[in-house]
Amino acid sequence: MRTPVIAGNWKLFKTIGEAIGLVKDLKPLVAGTKGVEIIVAPVFTALGRVADELAGSNILLAAQDCYWEEEGAFTGEVAPGMLKDAGCSHVIIGHSERRQYFGETDVTVNKKVKAAINAGLTAIVCVGETLAEREADKTFAIIETQLWGGLEGLAPEAFSKVVVAYEPVWAIGTGKTASDTQAQEVHAFIRSLIARCFSQESAAGLRILYGGSVKPDNIKELMAQPDIDGALVGGASLNSASFAAITNFAG
Ligand code: 13P
Repeated sequence: MRTPVIAGNWKLFKTIGEAIGLVKDLKPLVAGTKGVEIIVAPVFTALGRVADELAGSNILLAAQDCYWEEEGAFTGEVAPGMLKDAGCSHVIIGHSERRQYFGETDVTVNKKVKAAINAGLTAIVCVGETLAEREADKTFAIIETQLWGGLEGLAPEAFSKVVVAYEPVWAIGTGKTASDTQAQEVHAFIRSLIARCFSQESAAGLRILYGGSVKPDNIKELMAQPDIDGALVGGASLNSASFAAITNFAG
């Protein structure tokens, strides 16, 4: 009942030309993929051109961040409505790299999530613990704080415009994937938390993605877990063949 989502987070990679080349290669590889929401998230400067290239395809467009104001004197920022205008349907919010390097907090995540939903975008909200936090048995506490802080004040209906991505920081770009059991345990915890804090219905319909060293050879096992509804893919999304193989996990 939950449509799986496979999203490629391209991070700070690909010029406009390279981005267009990648989606040109990707389109025919995923054209036959049914029942999966496929999303790519290029850098801001490539969004408009990639949107044109994706028109009429089954690939959706996301930005990697947004600001929470609609407009104003906020040099360097991009508003959710402007992302929509550029052709985005989704926006990634609260990625651990933004938390780690750019001062993102649960408070700013919350403002961005609300602004994104108000602008008609779906927010892909990222949460995840560091290795030190996991080793100190703080995983659930960290996830609870980040989720509660990031989603505070949302109406249960707003959850149709929210996707949660669980990305353990220690698994990002390290080649160290969380085991299926480790990931499932946290995904189930996230779903139970949403049921407790918002509504049973919001929790049942919520897509929860796993992120952290997802590759063609581990996606099948991850997707077999009952609470894993998709993946947020970094490195392996930069190549059309490996990203297509991940989107075709069921085949
Ligand atoms: P990798 O797939 O490269 O580990 O990156 C995961 C990620 O951060 C996706 O947002």
